[in-house]
Amino acid sequence: MDGFKQLNDSSAELVIADPPYFKIVKQKWDNQWESENNYLDWCLNWTKESYRVLKEGGLFYVWGAIGKDREHPFLKYMFKVEEETDFKFLNFITMRNFRVFGNSSHFPFGRQELLVFSKGKHNTYNKQYSDFEGVNRLGHPKLVTNVWLDCKDVSLYNNAIHPTEKPYLSSERIVPSSSNEGDTIIIPFVGSGVDCEACIRNKRDYIGFELDPTYSVLANQRTLDIAL
Ligand SMILES: C[S@@+](CC[C@H](N)C(=O)[O-])C[C@H]1O[C@@H](n2cnc3c(N)ncnc32)[C@H](O)[C@@H]1O
Repeated sequence: MDGFKQLNDSSAELVIADPPYFKIVKQKWDNQWESENNYLDWCLNWTKESYRVLKEGGLFYVWGAIGKDREHPFLKYMFKVEEETDFKFLNFITMRNFRVFGNSSHFPFGRQELLVFSKGKHNTYNKQYSDFEGVNRLGHPKLVTNVWLDCKDVSLYNNAIHPTEKPYLSSERIVPSSSNEGDTIIIPFVGSGVDCEACIRNKRDYIGFELDPTYSVLANQRTLDIAL
């Protein structure tokens, strides 16, 4: 992750990482490592870089998935972050996947996971509310919990520009809950640019990296369309 080298220490309030998952998706970018250990070493490298560039109290979100009858690098990653970095565990969010996968010999997988760590005690938590959770006694929408059942897969609407594109609603929860206007957000794996869109709409600055030029062009187009 050479991009991180260009970033100063303690220069951002939030990092949102949706890294390759290691051999889950049949894409070149998900099959870059010879072994799971190589993959985990690579993950720890950009995780430590994320810690370095975050300000004290900053937040670090990492997407991943557990599932299929295979090893579970994401769970190993979670424990390695606790054991080998100074990040503090804060939350473990589950998002329902509407497009399920897995074999037919057991319950199919219908979830994705989102780990949240902080650099020291976290500074920001702007509560989020949703009608989907129901309403309270006064008829106001209830607090969003760490189980997100209402984020519809992008592909269900046939307008995905990336094979693992996250629903806009998930970015629209992470960005406003965990940063404030004018904050700087680092997006190490831009993909379709969904997090970039949420940054622009919520008036945050962002710096994003993307290996595949096809996606960087598409993500740039997406952000340009909003900015204009
Ligand atoms: C899981 S996808 C991100 C999807 C994105 N969150 C979205 O919703 O569209 C991971 C992305 O990381 C990119 N990638 C893989 N290795 C990278 C690297 N070393 N530096 C930057 N981007 C990389 C891949 O090309 C892929 O687009």
